[in-house]
Amino acid sequence: MVADKPVFQEKRCNNFSFPTWPQYDEAEEKILMEVLHSGVWWKTPGEQVYAFEREFAQFIGVDYAIGVTNGTAALEVAVSALGIRPGDEVIVPDFTFVATASAVLSVGAMPIFVDVNPDTYCINAEEIQKAVTSRTKAVIVVHLGGHPVDLDAILDLCRSHHLYLIEDCSHAHGSEWRGKKVGGFGDFGTFSFQQGKLLTAGEGGAIVTNNADLELKARSIHDCGRLPDQWFYSHFNYGSNYRMTEWQGAILRKQLERLPDQGRIRNRNAAYLDRELEKIKGITPQWSDPNCTHNGHYAYIFHYDSEKFSSLPLTQFVMKLEEAGIPIQASYPPLHELDLFQNGIYRSRITTDQDYQFLMEKDYPHTVKGARETIWFPQNVLLAEEYILDQMVHVMRETLNKEVCA
Ligand SMILES: Cc1ncc(COP(=O)(O)O)c(C=O)c1O
Repeated sequence: MVADKPVFQEKRCNNFSFPTWPQYDEAEEKILMEVLHSGVWWKTPGEQVYAFEREFAQFIGVDYAIGVTNGTAALEVAVSALGIRPGDEVIVPDFTFVATASAVLSVGAMPIFVDVNPDTYCINAEEIQKAVTSRTKAVIVVHLGGHPVDLDAILDLCRSHHLYLIEDCSHAHGSEWRGKKVGGFGDFGTFSFQQGKLLTAGEGGAIVTNNADLELKARSIHDCGRLPDQWFYSHFNYGSNYRMTEWQGAILRKQLERLPDQGRIRNRNAAYLDRELEKIKGITPQWSDPNCTHNGHYAYIFHYDSEKFSSLPLTQFVMKLEEAGIPIQASYPPLHELDLFQNGIYRSRITTDQDYQFLMEKDYPHTVKGARETIWFPQNVLLAEEYILDQMVHVMRETLNKEVCA
């Protein structure tokens, strides 16, 4: 049954009410019912995924988009379409979700971790430069929290070393560098549409590119190695089934219509939080590069100076914010600390006898700082009314004053 009014509930937590996520109304309900009644629930003869692919490509400003099952699959298909294989190395940030690195292992290549910038927490171009070897084939960057990496420096570096660039844009739907949307700078851009993401179908992903050859390869790999306009049971490449469903395509089309307005609200509120939190000594919001002309803001990230607040360790401050009803999103642990890498299981995916133990023992000071000393507000916090943000800042100040000055 179709509900008779929009469903933008407010979630009330103590004194705070934050918009719920995901947001939807009759538009999503109507299009899902259309898919239901059409009887076409998969992509192959359907319309919704193809329409979403065209609309998303147009939104990002690229020639091609391919809808896939999730953001991990998007990375796996991209890495595979670039021909990355056992013996190759791919440089990735140490500070990211595991999929950025596990996608590299999925083709038997080795992810090489490098440290991030101390202020944006995005991969550091000089560290990439130092990590390039004769085996390096590609770099995967992550626009962390929605803030673009330094695309000028990284594109230069990739060109001069003949490396492929994949932009993992799972946090950065609509983020811009010098007025151009991220995703279209590299050979591939990949997106996640998982539940908490800025554009969501619960699960889902997309690959974008401007390169027709790469598009054809990725499209084939995501569809069991088929090629367009060929017999259904002919398979030309090694691929798998990474196809998005019509349900996902349909709901994403409606979510995409909401994204620009939501993005403007998040940006306005993030700027407000920046101004207010910068006044608190010991709290430093993620730095915004002037070339970042729009930050999608998958999260609002700030550094908490544990030395300055030595009587209130970060974990206790977080607990107090949560008790007050302010939602907090966990930061990532450094990749090199994950069991997958520490216990050596990753070796079962690579054929080279090259010893990569040094990666697990290397220092990644800025990633460690990001992992242990930053606090992340999830993106729906940035959709709240300004007076709610005002109250949040007030609670933060009160908590810090009470504990630190006690
Ligand atoms: C940076 C990053 N890369 C990749 C992924 C993987 O996306 P998914 O969860 O849709 O597979 C995520 C999602 O959590 C992510 O945050």
